[in-house]
Amino acid sequence: MPGLWSSPVCLTVICFLSCSVAPSPAPSPAKDEVASGLQYGHLKTNITLACGKSPVRTPVVWRLNHSSALPWHQLTSNGSLILLQTDHSAQGDYSCYDNQGLLLHSLRLRLGYPPGPLSISCRVPNHTHVRCSWADSAETHLPAEYTASYGGKNQEEDDWRPCVVDASGKHCDINQPGFWQVTHVLRVTETNALGSQTTLILFKLYELLKPDPPESVEVGAVEGHPTRLQVSWGFPSSWPQSIAFPLIFHIRYRPQGSAYWSELFSEENQLTIYDALAGYVHQVEVRARDEVNQWTQWSEWSNSVFEQPWEDESTLAPTEEVFPEEFFPSETSPHFTKPETSTQRSHNPGFEDEGNLGLVVLLVLFSVVILSTVLSLVFVMWVKQRRQNQANKQELTSVVKMKSMPI
Ligand SMILES: *[C@@H]1O[C@H](CO)[C@@H](O)[C@H](O)[C@H]1NC(C)=O
Ligand SMILES: *[C@@H]1O[C@H](CO)[C@@H](O)[C@H](O)[C@H]1NC(C)=O
Ligand SMILES: *[C@@H]1O[C@H](CO)[C@@H](O)[C@H](O)[C@H]1NC(C)=O
Ligand SMILES: *[C@@H]1O[C@H](CO)[C@@H](O)[C@H](O)[C@H]1NC(C)=O
Repeated sequence: MPGLWSSPVCLTVICFLSCSVAPSPAPSPAKDEVASGLQYGHLKTNITLACGKSPVRTPVVWRLNHSSALPWHQLTSNGSLILLQTDHSAQGDYSCYDNQGLLLHSLRLRLGYPPGPLSISCRVPNHTHVRCSWADSAETHLPAEYTASYGGKNQEEDDWRPCVVDASGKHCDINQPGFWQVTHVLRVTETNALGSQTTLILFKLYELLKPDPPESVEVGAVEGHPTRLQVSWGFPSSWPQSIAFPLIFHIRYRPQGSAYWSELFSEENQLTIYDALAGYVHQVEVRARDEVNQWTQWSEWSNSVFEQPWEDESTLAPTEEVFPEEFFPSETSPHFTKPETSTQRSHNPGFEDEGNLGLVVLLVLFSVVILSTVLSLVFVMWVKQRRQNQANKQELTSVVKMKSMPI
């Protein structure tokens, strides 16, 4: 491997990589001073730079970036420069000259660290695809190459398959990973000019299976129903629309501003919410999970969609008043989803009119009672008067009778 790294082809590749990665372009000195080689060094160590392949007998002069100011160093009798306890400032273009000022050799020094263990994580958005991404646990400052392969935990390494590394070198993809294997092993090797490191991880595909969130979530009001909302959504585009791979959906909703969600589950692509809070904008989200295996993961929540149930503006009193006078359960209840109605009252003019109506009814009742009392009193008095008149008449007739009676 070290032989490979010092080969000209490899150096060219590395130079190409490093040159394309370097943020600032290298200075373009005179033609005879272009760095002719690339040397890598381990930061915080002593690094020996040789003035050409063969030992030089005459004393030589070293320059860094065309300047005679060099980092902490020692010169050896054979013309080599030893840089001591290097840090980043020791990087650059070095050149050595003989005592007549003739350029003998030049090189570019790049400093960094050999690779350390990687932190690797894998995403499984459907049954046919795995993407594993990694990051250096410590910055190496050097360009690196990655190779990756995977296989079943108890599988012979000869049967392992490559995990195809992306051009960015930051992740690799597995197609048709084979869900029948319970545990898989992924091996990623990072190699840079200073060394190589292999990191292994074990993973269970079904534990990582996590769909992308459902797409095109839509929420609509239902005409004539102030507490209903119609919700629909689509499969994640990365999930096959096949009865072989069913999904279960989790829907949550709440009046905007409320801290508590209401929840529903569905195997369909749509449902109706029947208990929305009339007059309020609602926030609705949907997520998905493989329906067959409950040990798989829920997707992230979809984007929020905001919608208000249908409202009848023509009538004053709501036709479908689901939440009348009584208050909702205490705020600490986890399934509490609606704010107090007292706030709703001020929004809804119907309530005030209803109060006025009650007063009018009460007044009418009151006057009816008074009127009937007066009427019955009048009636009683009239009846009494009539009886008295009749009594008087009877008295008279009896007197007349008595008078006409023969004695
Ligand atoms: C670097 O060189 C200095 C001086 O020669 C020496 O004292 C020191 O031990 C060396 N350090 C390493 C890490 O080799
Ligand atoms: C020059 O001497 C140093 C030790 O002083 C040695 O490490 C190096 O290999 C020598 N370089 C050449 C080109 O002989
Ligand atoms: C020399 O130039 C390189 C860029 O080519 C730069 O990174 C480095 O810091 C420079 N070193 C000094 C000592 O100026
Ligand atoms: C599985 O997911 C990958 C990555 O998102 C996608 O490219 C592929 O088309 C999906 N496979 C199916 C069958 O949908």
